[in-house]
Amino acid sequence: MGANGIAVIGAGMIGAAHASGYRSHLPRFSDRIGGLSLATVCDDNDTLAAAVASTYGFARVARDWKATIADPDIAIVSVALPNFLHVEVAAAALDAGKHVICEKPLALNAAEALMLWRKAQASRRCAATVFNYRRYPAVAEIHKLIAAGAIGEPLHIALQYQCDYAADPDLPHSWRYTRSRAGAGALLDLGTHAIDMARFLIGEVDEVVGAMSTIAIKRRFVAQGATIGHDRVALSAETRLVDNDDVVSALLRFENGCQGLFSASRIAVGFGNALSITVAGAKGTVAFTTTAPGKYEIAQFDGSGQSPFRVVNNRPSFPYAGALLPVPHDGVAVGYAEAFGFMIHDFLAAVAAGEAMRNGSMLDGLRAAEILDAIDLAAARGGSVPIHRAA
Ligand SMILES: NC(=O)c1ccc[n+]([C@@H]2O[C@H](COP(=O)([O-])OP(=O)(O)OC[C@H]3O[C@@H](n4cnc5c(N)ncnc54)[C@H](O)[C@@H]3O)[C@@H](O)[C@H]2O)c1
Repeated sequence: MGANGIAVIGAGMIGAAHASGYRSHLPRFSDRIGGLSLATVCDDNDTLAAAVASTYGFARVARDWKATIADPDIAIVSVALPNFLHVEVAAAALDAGKHVICEKPLALNAAEALMLWRKAQASRRCAATVFNYRRYPAVAEIHKLIAAGAIGEPLHIALQYQCDYAADPDLPHSWRYTRSRAGAGALLDLGTHAIDMARFLIGEVDEVVGAMSTIAIKRRFVAQGATIGHDRVALSAETRLVDNDDVVSALLRFENGCQGLFSASRIAVGFGNALSITVAGAKGTVAFTTTAPGKYEIAQFDGSGQSPFRVVNNRPSFPYAGALLPVPHDGVAVGYAEAFGFMIHDFLAAVAAGEAMRNGSMLDGLRAAEILDAIDLAAARGGSVPIHRAA
């Protein structure tokens, strides 16, 4: 039985979700991946690492990501660190022969994402990007419906990701508000998910026809201590510049001719965390929002003059629902945590099968980065920007 320890590197807001996902899904794979175990939570904040390790049953904590990757007991690495560390840590883990699942955005830009993707290919290890929103059962079902022609040829997709985690100007400055550490702002933090959803449902984007972005809150107070996710903490009197977008919008042209209308905001008061999509095709329309994740709505042209929307609640026949939910019953709602766990499940399934990650690969991370770069450029200079697909 080989050593197949799992390490989660980064124990902040989303590191806990990785740990929870492994905790939930590990038993399904322990007979297929010998020695699979919840081994290490690594964070340079000892308190956080210890809290996540004890909550989700990991054996050890560590401060140093290099030592964690060098540990021969570790075979599987989750990278849940701030954006600017993704490429360095994921590349080192691949070099060390580990299977790697890296948080979105895969990199600060497409050039770095391409480097990482090439390394992943050469490593022949399982290399994934966290695209959890594809894994809401209703979204995965909509993907199947569109592919089967249920709404005809897709003509238009509207993607709106509205959050208010940054709406309060008294929330602390953190790595998220600095371009050198986060890349673009709402565009990379939220837009990555929306753009991945667009690719998942419609296909490749060929051109950003136009885009604009706004920095609404131009300075934020520096925290007195560490920041975690979007949490409120004690502030110092010092302020620091915000140099990446709070709000961004773009018009997209897909390879298949479909139009895309995309926007993302981290300061949309009242929204919490809401990603909504509507796809209108030649014969129907389908819609989903993460604020009502237990259902989708569909209208199919029926010639009656009305073609009303029908609400379709989650069913066991939807992807993930029947196979992975503890209560696989009609209408049982599914939330963020379950969809995130399904991402970890799919990654472990690919590792267990000795296969490349296909649905949410590092190539998907690269493709999203290429589109996000083009939106960022179109917003900065105006005009349209064609997408250059490398690799
Ligand atoms: N998939 C999703 O739905 C989703 C949701 C939220 C965040 N994310 C992504 O997850 C990543 C982390 O976001 P977060 O909100 O958890 O951030 P966070 O700031 O809450 O956590 C980051 C953690 O990394 C630790 N850290 C920083 N530098 C380190 C180093 N050199 N060595 C060890 N530990 C270090 C920090 O102490 C912190 O605990 C980001 O890339 C973000 O885009 C994804």
